[in-house]
Amino acid sequence: MNAPTPVEEAGFAPASRIARIDVSEIVRIGARAQALKREGEPIIILGAGEPDFDTPDFVKQGAVDAIMAGDTKYTALDGTPALKQAIQAKFARENNVDYALDEITVATGAKQILFNAMMASLNAGDEVVIPTPYWTSYSDIVQIAEGVPVLVTCTAEAGFRLKAEQLEQAITPKTKWVLLNSPSNPSGAAYSEADYRPLLDVLLRHPQVMLLVDDMYEHITYDDFRFVTPAAIEPRLKNRTLTVNGVSKAYAMTGWRIGYAGGPKALIKAMAVVQSQATSCPSSVSQAASVAALNGDQSFLQERKASFQRRRDLVVAGLNVIEGITCRVPEGAFYTFSSCAGLLGRKTADGRTIATDSDFCNYLLTDAHVAVVPGSAFGLSPFFRISYATSEAELTEALSRIAGACEALT
Ligand SMILES: Cc1ncc(COP(=O)(O)O)c(C=O)c1O
Repeated sequence: MNAPTPVEEAGFAPASRIARIDVSEIVRIGARAQALKREGEPIIILGAGEPDFDTPDFVKQGAVDAIMAGDTKYTALDGTPALKQAIQAKFARENNVDYALDEITVATGAKQILFNAMMASLNAGDEVVIPTPYWTSYSDIVQIAEGVPVLVTCTAEAGFRLKAEQLEQAITPKTKWVLLNSPSNPSGAAYSEADYRPLLDVLLRHPQVMLLVDDMYEHITYDDFRFVTPAAIEPRLKNRTLTVNGVSKAYAMTGWRIGYAGGPKALIKAMAVVQSQATSCPSSVSQAASVAALNGDQSFLQERKASFQRRRDLVVAGLNVIEGITCRVPEGAFYTFSSCAGLLGRKTADGRTIATDSDFCNYLLTDAHVAVVPGSAFGLSPFFRISYATSEAELTEALSRIAGACEALT
């Protein structure tokens, strides 16, 4: 049994729907790293899931203009008409998918979109297929909504991608959703049209299953990878697909908290019911900024993408020369997900054994002063995730420290 939480000790027992869920390991590691930094330790934090770039000025200006124009009141429940129109145009322009305005919803981050979708659709015991490694919130949100996460391991050898046979096997009469995320947090793996096709064929054979695709990192892809979204590839699935996206990563707007989705009208309506009793509406000012982001000049995205690609190349090369670490080249996002299997069983200079990826990440934090997140936080061990959304100078220093720490293991 888990040790009682401080609230339990104080006489409070959490509801069963959240009892098995803890504050995410990513948040815990981040807090520990920040605390060490405050104590003066020279910590490099490679844990954050946000771009280090600033929100573009033209987006900030959109917010300032909205404030001065008095757009500071409650808005329509699930998005202003102006933002829904901007999203509609974005889906048509960039994704080749047409959504009517009542098939579009806006929430306080893509995280709330996921939350609204699960709360609106899951009955207790409904199953949700989640390819693993997965973004931690997927399984936690499903559990809060009293669903059952069905975790399907996608190996590094399979490019961390779900295979059609695995999907077929995972589907049962209780399956309500399949959650796909491309490019992926944490693996950076992405599905091309050819990768998606067999999965969509499986879904065509199971009409009770809905598909949620999380396209959050669509603008951060590398080399000649061509991003596609399933609703465009397979129009026959469009009426049971929720296409999730947001401004957080592409426009460096994590703090503005705007996410959105296109999907079947009945689902969108049910999601609005959840939102109406949770937050009433997303922030009016952030919605205005998002209109500016989506309707504005998109050329800066290419520069940022090029900068992320340089960092990806630096990190992948730097990791793969370290004996005991293997890093697959990710197609997108700003994460590497590397195996540390070759280091397990080794000992630190002061005699601690590195038995798990968590041990390895703890060792990197305490001895190399580099904060990274163990694969266990994403459901797959022994791996570790690096977020390379930081300067090349800091990445170079972090890689040299990691290499030194690994060499020191015996
Ligand atoms: C895969 C993925 N989806 C969704 C989100 C949520 O983004 P937001 O709530 O900031 O829109 C994140 C954030 O880390 C993510 O990594």
